[in-house]
Amino acid sequence: IAKTAAAGGPGLHPEMLAFSSSLDLDIALLREDLLGSLAHLTMLSRCGIIPREAAAELKAGLLSIRRAADDGTLELPAEEDVHMAVEAWLHANVGAAAGLLHTGRSRNDQVAVDLKLHVREQVLVIREALARLVLLLVERAEGGLETLLPAYTHRQRAQPVSLAYWYASYAAMVVRDLDAFAFVQDQVDSMPLGVGAIAGTTLPNDREILRGLLGFTRITVNGLDTVGDRDFALDYAYAAARFLLHASRLSTDLVDFTSAEFGFAKLDDEIACGSSMMPQKKNPDAFELVRGKSGKAVGNLVNLLVTVKGLPGGYNRDLQEDRGPLLETGKLVRGVASILQLALPRVHFQPERCLAALEADATQATDLAEALVKKGLPFRTAYQAVGKLVRACQERGLPLGSATPELAASVDPVFDAATLEAASIKGALARKQSAGSTGLEPVRAQLAQLRARADAE
Ligand code: ARG
Repeated sequence: IAKTAAAGGPGLHPEMLAFSSSLDLDIALLREDLLGSLAHLTMLSRCGIIPREAAAELKAGLLSIRRAADDGTLELPAEEDVHMAVEAWLHANVGAAAGLLHTGRSRNDQVAVDLKLHVREQVLVIREALARLVLLLVERAEGGLETLLPAYTHRQRAQPVSLAYWYASYAAMVVRDLDAFAFVQDQVDSMPLGVGAIAGTTLPNDREILRGLLGFTRITVNGLDTVGDRDFALDYAYAAARFLLHASRLSTDLVDFTSAEFGFAKLDDEIACGSSMMPQKKNPDAFELVRGKSGKAVGNLVNLLVTVKGLPGGYNRDLQEDRGPLLETGKLVRGVASILQLALPRVHFQPERCLAALEADATQATDLAEALVKKGLPFRTAYQAVGKLVRACQERGLPLGSATPELAASVDPVFDAATLEAASIKGALARKQSAGSTGLEPVRAQLAQLRARADAE
């Protein structure tokens, strides 16, 4: 077929053809490619660049490719990429008119528009999935407004917080991911087709027609930039990697919380896997896999970054290597969002175990120091007095909550029964009213804000 020669050159070695082929990956862009070509044909015929009848014949051909693809009956010629394969199919099935399809177009601007159409659609689906995830996290939070849990710094018990506060922290991260994907959506919203290989075309084409037909807001500014631009792909891979990092941190919390060492939560059998050898095992594989897949998302971002790094301006064939990481990104994000949607309602927190962990330690120490501040002590003085009391308790093997007023007063006379009581673990939430804190009202406000952002999607 004529175009094989056009793309690869008549003397191309078969091994070179195989090495340079991207058809196994970019076949995933078939729908986008057909859409771009349909718009291109409409534009060419409206601008009088090709005859209407030829455009109509070719469009009918493209639509029958689409139908065959939908039916699973499509057989494309084995060309070096999906773009050449479609053109070759038209030559074989429509005839001579196929030679008009690529008028005023290069695969460089064609690939750019295919990729942007792909990312644009993925981002819409992803934003919907992430909004649903935020709503789920908020819903789970609402069930844990008064359940106490240790919050950790340095993976050491730090202070009592509510389970709602913990869920809300992850909802806040996913809300920022929604913002990141909204930025990606704006970045892909500029239409690259019509700049040709790099310098534009001498033919009277109209990129505004293409923009309108393909539903973009803007057209790209400069063709030399356009054919080598993968910033939108980097932004997309970054947003994805960041969401997966958040999902990974959530997963690590849950892997820990469901271990016997923490014992804070139990998993339903539906999402826990067994061991092939140890009959007693119930493993948090769902969350481990989310953590594992986050590595892939980071890898895809790095892959794209190093592919672009070192390229000169304009189009370079290296860019074809964007296909693997870029096309995997949507699948990763959607898969992780979806498994979290399934798994989170199947995590059951054990409030008594969480409370026991808080009480076994001195997690109310900061509140006790602040109780002394309320009595007029400078914070650093209060901090030192509480530090002494914590050490005295540790020497006696007592949790801070079991310190008697007598013991406390013997350590430092600033302590009395009322002050100790003012730092009880159970009262930890009621005492915290500042914005962004774990108090009941501040957490309600956080959840309302997070829910509103998700609802706005
Ligand atoms: N498969 C190629 C790619 O994805 C198509 C563009 C080829 N352009 C070229 N000038 N050889 O980048």
